[in-house]
Amino acid sequence: MVFSPLSRDITVDVAIIGGGIAGMSVAYFLSRQGKKVAVIDDGVIGSGESGRTTAHLTYALDERYYELENLHGRDGAKLIAESHNAAIDHIESIVRKENISCDFERVDGYLFRSGEDSEEEPLNKELDTLSRIGRKEVRLVKESPAPFHTGICLHFPLQGQFHPLKYLSGLAQAIIQRGGKIFTGTHAKDFNASGITTDTNYTINAHDIVVTTNTPVNDRLQMHTKQAPYRTYVIGARIPKDSVTKALYWDTGKNMGGVANPYHYVRIQPVDETNDLLIVGGEDHKVGQAYNNAYEKIEQWTKERFPMIKNIPYRWSGHIIEPMDSTGFIGRNPLDKTVYIATGFSGNGMTHGTIAGILISDLILEKKNPWADIYDPARKSFFAVKEYFEENLNVVKQYTEWLKKGDISSTDELASGQGAVMRKKLSKVAVYRDEQGIVHEFSAVCPHLGCIIRWNPKEKTFDCPCHGSRFTNYGKVITGPSNRDLNKLV
Ligand SMILES: Cc1cc2nc3c(=O)[nH]c(=O)nc-3n(C[C@H](O)[C@H](O)[C@H](O)COP(=O)(O)OP(=O)(O)OC[C@H]3O[C@@H](n4cnc5c(N)ncnc54)[C@H](O)[C@@H]3O)c2cc1C
Ligand code: FES
Repeated sequence: MVFSPLSRDITVDVAIIGGGIAGMSVAYFLSRQGKKVAVIDDGVIGSGESGRTTAHLTYALDERYYELENLHGRDGAKLIAESHNAAIDHIESIVRKENISCDFERVDGYLFRSGEDSEEEPLNKELDTLSRIGRKEVRLVKESPAPFHTGICLHFPLQGQFHPLKYLSGLAQAIIQRGGKIFTGTHAKDFNASGITTDTNYTINAHDIVVTTNTPVNDRLQMHTKQAPYRTYVIGARIPKDSVTKALYWDTGKNMGGVANPYHYVRIQPVDETNDLLIVGGEDHKVGQAYNNAYEKIEQWTKERFPMIKNIPYRWSGHIIEPMDSTGFIGRNPLDKTVYIATGFSGNGMTHGTIAGILISDLILEKKNPWADIYDPARKSFFAVKEYFEENLNVVKQYTEWLKKGDISSTDELASGQGAVMRKKLSKVAVYRDEQGIVHEFSAVCPHLGCIIRWNPKEKTFDCPCHGSRFTNYGKVITGPSNRDLNKLV
């Protein structure tokens, strides 16, 4: 969804930076309460991760509830489940109220073991915890309706799915109908307590600022030590209509160390009279730190289980922000009074983004909200987690890249359409040879906190292995926390 860029100074009650599910939900809930809001996005609405999502709507989260209970206590785990369940209900009621055609439907979810060798115990443990925190509708069943043998699995009734871009389009219309403003192609350059300035030097003066840029670009360090960026991969395969029972399917994944526990996630999207689309994701890895054969691995996994596949027309990838204590950060930016953030959504950003809409609007309207403490970005629970130390140690190790040789020693080694990082005396330079053979050079030092970026051959981007900033082959920032492009040298 494209809107005009901001072309003058404006004053509103609340300025919202980032037009994904979080920003648009905050704008929607506030505009319903009569607040004057403006949303800006430097792409278009939904051009971030919300346009790449596979859009499972569920309270069966990436992290198991027995882990959440350990971290946040029984009441905390209960509130987390309730909030994600409420988010699905809110999405459903918004779809009805605003008459949004976005293919929303209720579907059941099934969590099964990753392989015959993985243990049954975690499923039993999860069931016990879910029952203790009041989710008695979840049951252990012998099989899922998937067309392959899953063995016993947890059945989560009445979860949901929708088309995220159609939903965002409906929210945009509803926001505008209530007097809200939306500007796209508008980059927020500077942030302060009374507003923001764009890179075209217009200002939005506002009493409250909400930064919903997936990973907060207004925060230099604090939040980025509490969460870690992962890349996840998806394929879309054409299958005969109704050949797979419509449901959400997840395996329990593998513990690879670090905060992410990569798993496979599957859903079915109706396409036309004869076809459905089987959407399968997984094979996550830390941004900038491994470019394995993710698509090939997902394809293999899928073909082994879904022999009815006709072809695989779609492949895409995206960014997942993993919080160290497995719960999103939604609320006041630490040390700020009128600046709010929403980040650390893990693979559950559709519900987290909706929770952000409800919670941040309540905080701005000074209404009590029972979820405020559990999602507070200033909470301390992540200190208890060993992954907090592991992930930050991993970041520190990335700085040794400064001492290493480059990928190539001369740009003569670079083929057209390829990039690399090379050493030039004491500095490191990112180089890219375009299809015309012209070499473009940038500083390889990430503008965020000085890590050395790496070439990602799969997506032809330069990625930072520290906190996940990503840049195009021409050095333009596409994902924060860097809010600036690479320094151009030649
Ligand atoms: C492949 C994939 C599959 C996923 N599957 C699921 C799923 O099944 N279920 C689920 O719940 N979640 C899923 N997720 C997670 C979910 O998609 C994300 O957590 C969620 O979309 C994040 O929403 P957001 O609004 O925080 O960020 P985004 O949607 O990324 O929006 C942020 C916006 O901020 C803008 N922006 C950034 N910096 C600036 C700036 N300086 N000025 C102006 N604008 C700026 C960007 O252009 C962007 O549009 C998935 C994610 C991926 C990548
Ligand atoms: S993203 Fe933090 S140093 Fe690059």
